[in-house]
Amino acid sequence: MSRVDPEQGEHKPDLPGPSVWPIGVAVGVACLLVGLVISWWIVAIGGGISIVFGFLWLSDLSGHPVGARPAAAPPPATTGPPPAQRRPEGPTTTRSGFLSVATLGLGGVIGALVSIPPIFLAIVPPFLKQSKKPVDLGPLAQFPAGQWVVTTFMLDPSEGAVSRRTAYIRYNGPLKGQPSFTIISNRCAHLGCPVQPLGLVQPDKTKTISTTGGEVVTTIPVLAVSGFSCPCHGGAYDTEGNRTAGPPVRGLDRYEFSIKNGHLILGRNYSVSKVDGAGAGARIHKYDLTGPGQHIDGWEQIFYPIQPPH
Ligand code: FES
Repeated sequence: MSRVDPEQGEHKPDLPGPSVWPIGVAVGVACLLVGLVISWWIVAIGGGISIVFGFLWLSDLSGHPVGARPAAAPPPATTGPPPAQRRPEGPTTTRSGFLSVATLGLGGVIGALVSIPPIFLAIVPPFLKQSKKPVDLGPLAQFPAGQWVVTTFMLDPSEGAVSRRTAYIRYNGPLKGQPSFTIISNRCAHLGCPVQPLGLVQPDKTKTISTTGGEVVTTIPVLAVSGFSCPCHGGAYDTEGNRTAGPPVRGLDRYEFSIKNGHLILGRNYSVSKVDGAGAGARIHKYDLTGPGQHIDGWEQIFYPIQPPH
């Protein structure tokens, strides 16, 4: 014969049972972290899953479940005198439920206070001040047709020499009535060392001009260019910037351009997996600017973190 607690009788505390919501939260967080490597939309899905399951979990712990639970079976009819008092029916919060919510809430507040500032400082700065001003490289006449010109310029003259960059520029002749240029970045697609043109550099023909935006632009012609090479680890590229040898995983980055008042205007730079054809008729496989060493096409691209806007 079983014994009955004299104070609680046959009623047991209404503790929350095992729940699947924490597993949902864990899946959402895992999805969010994987998304940081693969794509923003996976980050959004992971965040949504975490929030929904976290809400359901908290709701369960607080004793006010969102979904209706199946009604408990009515107690068996008993004989004898009716209970002297009955508690009013309605949702109740147990002591253990309250302590669970209070512990989780306090832990959440402390975790947020400790983690949000460093996460903010680590993630947000790359998204700020990313707009890039077009750079005036001077009159079109300084770029003879079919000849490579080593061109150095300042991305932002107000920042001085630290913003100086180098591009290799070739005028390809007209395309559909507009001048066509190939403008290749000198940043190696392996680890970012400056690639060099394989040709006859003519330093005695160096020209320096000041353009309308205050940029100081220097041009040096190079004859008989057969490609580009990197002095660091032997990366090699052809005259369209396609990788031909060594450790680089893709072609050289390029710059967009436009023509304004007879001047060549440099736009934003972008990454290139490969180029089919050559010159004005080349077909460029173009991607958003990506760091050196990163695959931008093929299955390998999933191993690299998503890029902040450039
Ligand atoms: S940085 Fe150019 S080959 Fe390594």
